[in-house]
Amino acid sequence: MVLRAARPLLSRAQTWTADALNPQLLKAQYAVRGAIPLRAGQIAEDLRKGVGSYPFDKVVFANIGNPQSLRQEPITFFRQVLSVLELSSNAGNHEHRKQIENLFPKDVVERADAYLQSGGLIGAYSDSNGIRQSREEVARYISDRDGYPASPDDIFLTAGASEGIANVLEALIANDNVGVMIPIPQYPLYSATITLCNGRAVHYYLDEENAWDMSLDELKRSIAAARNEGTDVRALAVINPGNPTGQCLSREAIENVIRFCNDEGLVLLADEVYQTNTYDATRPFFSFKSVLRSIPECSESVPLFSFHSLSKGMLGECGRRGGYMEMTNIDQSVRENLLKRASINLCASVAGQAMVGMMCQPPKPGDESYPLYNEQFTATFESLKRRAQKLSDAFNSMPGVSCIPPTGAMYLFPRIELSSTAQDAAAKKGLAPDAWSCSSRRDWCCVVPGSGFGQREGTFHFRCTFLPPEEDIDGLVDSIRAFQEKWVATYGL
Ligand SMILES: Cc1ncc(COP(=O)(O)O)c(C=O)c1O
Repeated sequence: MVLRAARPLLSRAQTWTADALNPQLLKAQYAVRGAIPLRAGQIAEDLRKGVGSYPFDKVVFANIGNPQSLRQEPITFFRQVLSVLELSSNAGNHEHRKQIENLFPKDVVERADAYLQSGGLIGAYSDSNGIRQSREEVARYISDRDGYPASPDDIFLTAGASEGIANVLEALIANDNVGVMIPIPQYPLYSATITLCNGRAVHYYLDEENAWDMSLDELKRSIAAARNEGTDVRALAVINPGNPTGQCLSREAIENVIRFCNDEGLVLLADEVYQTNTYDATRPFFSFKSVLRSIPECSESVPLFSFHSLSKGMLGECGRRGGYMEMTNIDQSVRENLLKRASINLCASVAGQAMVGMMCQPPKPGDESYPLYNEQFTATFESLKRRAQKLSDAFNSMPGVSCIPPTGAMYLFPRIELSSTAQDAAAKKGLAPDAWSCSSRRDWCCVVPGSGFGQREGTFHFRCTFLPPEEDIDGLVDSIRAFQEKWVATYGL
């Protein structure tokens, strides 16, 4: 018998369109993958298929911090341990095991065994807060980094930092009156998630004149303005090192933020996914946890969530979806509910969880895998530093562009001058001026407008990663310079 779909069902399905969607989903915006990158993707596809006519033969995607998509080399040790996990037989076949031992260095096999013994069977669900071995490795990393104890019981392994951040925001936003302070410019995960949860984003501006520093006066202005409007401000998010702004905060700035949260009774979210991407020895990374512990009057009182990720640093393993969240001064009742939230998603990818442990405890001097690990890590780090410097110098030499050299992260956020003629022309197209400038780049470089990250009224920027391979940087600079010169000649400054 042949079964056919009943007609009424089909027509009902056809009536389900965007205007019937959750309005918060419709409102949420995420510029990093918005209209401009989609258009760039179409052009790249045309070029691949030999369709259309373009005055260039490739597109460089400088819109998103996705290092391996721009040919950053994966680190061998991490991939080898994952390969052993992939190859391991659940039945413990002796011959099979011998083959694995012959194929891989001893420290690789030992590390894989540690994950397997800790429940890290990569085809099985793990505990919702993550496998114990990795949580112990994370805790050891944090206590060595900070000089203060850390416990595996305070760690959740998450599907990238994004999942931890989203779960905490979702838990915080108890009603539509709740506000969360976020930096402007910001990484749009924050604004989008707050919108999805129907909360209020309370903006505090970073100070471009002071290399994107945070100012206590600005925090006070922002919270007072929000409270005046009746917003119940409950939390403050900080991104350090900054995305899209690339600044590494001074210890003093971090202390000010912590004291401010203590005075105002705020939960602190410290997004530290770029903690190993620091390029200026005079601006080292300080974790919020370590600074918190050093201030006696705040040490036990300010609730802090700290986030880290596999996606950045010298790993760039974005596709693994691995990260961790550390909870400091978080009440047991909140932890229990966050564990329930994590358990609704069952668990993060177990391969990603194992990699988070490896990120935190990579090979050490004396280990068989150390020389290669160190060579690969250092080569990527030095290359990122060179690319950051070269691109920011180039931006600063272009007409109508100025750029704060980054001390951290993976991005430049150059300011562009857009004349009133250019702004009028953009308005006629119904576009934000910087969005029009970015989408007018019919060259081979995809960058995203500052308006997607937020910027002070009347200023315009774009975000450009410094991840494209070194051999592409000169071409990238030439194409942006040619575009900028033509733009200034057409619209003036
Ligand atoms: C500041 C910041 N936080 C969080 C994330 C999300 O990272 P993940 O891939 O770990 O979810 C990103 C990604 O670009 C980021 O820039």
